[in-house]
Amino acid sequence: MVSSPLLFPDFFRWGTATSSYQVEGNLTNNDWFAAAQTGGYIYQDQAAGLACDWWNRAEEDFDRMVTLNQNAHRLSIEWSRIEPSPGVWDNDALARYREMLIGLHQRGIEPMVTLHHFTNPLWLTEQGGWDNEAIIGLFERYTQKVVSVLGDLTPIWCTINEPAVMISHAYGLGRFPPGIRDFNAWLRVAINVVRSHAASYHAIHRLLPNAQVGIAKHMVLWKPWRPFLPNDQIATHFLEYLFNHLLLTMMTRGITRVPGRRSYLLPETANTLDWIGLNYYTRYRIQFELFSSQLKPRFKPGAMKGPGEWGEIHPQGMLIMLKQLWQRYRLPIYITENGIPDHTDAHRPEFIISHLSQVWQAIEKQIPILGYYFWSLVDNFEWTEGYNPSFRFGLFGVDFETQERHLRPSGKLYGEISKQGGLTSEILAR
Ligand code: GAL
Repeated sequence: MVSSPLLFPDFFRWGTATSSYQVEGNLTNNDWFAAAQTGGYIYQDQAAGLACDWWNRAEEDFDRMVTLNQNAHRLSIEWSRIEPSPGVWDNDALARYREMLIGLHQRGIEPMVTLHHFTNPLWLTEQGGWDNEAIIGLFERYTQKVVSVLGDLTPIWCTINEPAVMISHAYGLGRFPPGIRDFNAWLRVAINVVRSHAASYHAIHRLLPNAQVGIAKHMVLWKPWRPFLPNDQIATHFLEYLFNHLLLTMMTRGITRVPGRRSYLLPETANTLDWIGLNYYTRYRIQFELFSSQLKPRFKPGAMKGPGEWGEIHPQGMLIMLKQLWQRYRLPIYITENGIPDHTDAHRPEFIISHLSQVWQAIEKQIPILGYYFWSLVDNFEWTEGYNPSFRFGLFGVDFETQERHLRPSGKLYGEISKQGGLTSEILAR
């Protein structure tokens, strides 16, 4: 058993992450609320409803962050609140976000603000959403508005959360609204997303020259199901490039080759990342059948994995991804999400320790990692899984009937780790 302390640098951010639709409550003007009405996307067609009622009681959870010795939090701004109809701004909503960010500062918690976390205002969806080039200018205008009001409250901005997940689920697999399965649409949307990010990046820097702007990039550790079979190897490489690296290549180099398609040259998107946010959760083994063109994840019996289609829990993947990002892009890294669906909390404590050990090893290898934002502080609405009881991610459990919170053992543990600034011998020995 390892028992020498794994201590992190003094500046390290110990935080958690949340997003507007998943915690705020009473959001009915976006595409995810609409998807619950249409049906077919979400577990029991659930809308987020009151969620964790952050619009009214975020500060109570900020106090809980203090009890867990947190010094950072990543939250998102809801576009459909700020701009409920095109060009109309809700100043009260902006004032509430100001109040929330000030509330974090007052508690010694540094905010990281995400501008887009999966949801689009309905009026934008009606105009074609991400599949309409107009979104680039609209996202830039929304960015300007938000940053002009909140810019003095944080230099750390995340333009778009998990763009590859959003594009792949919404335009490739048809699982997120608008439910499209078409590679041409996927590509068009990918370009619009990258250009929107770039427009937002430049807008933030115009207003805040010292801002640090990045994205939260979900990275999957892809592996061939049958490592000896070219089918599975090629499919794995394809996914690794398409899902893990294509967007980052565009955002760093402004150029990219899409396998089987053309190259894209988008100079305005080059050098539009000051840091990369890594969202790391799982490993997937991939099987590809040539004749049926079927690509599917496969799981070994007894593999440590999450519920349903959730992939394998593989802590070593954290270090692999951190090394890969650093070697390819040479940018500072925040771990903007890492967590596990575990309503029993049986596995979360070990998950936290094993993943943080990997982060520590990466820091030892001189990879500049600035912070870790655990997903999530509180149980919340989980996209296609809605309030499915198997998909609970919180350090605090939430009773959604009463809004009561209870601290899970993993929360207590993460609080101790944050207080000690790492994994002490005592924590490791336990
Ligand atoms: C990410 C997403 C979060 C959260 C998390 C857990 O993909 O950014 O909003 O839902 O997964 O599944």
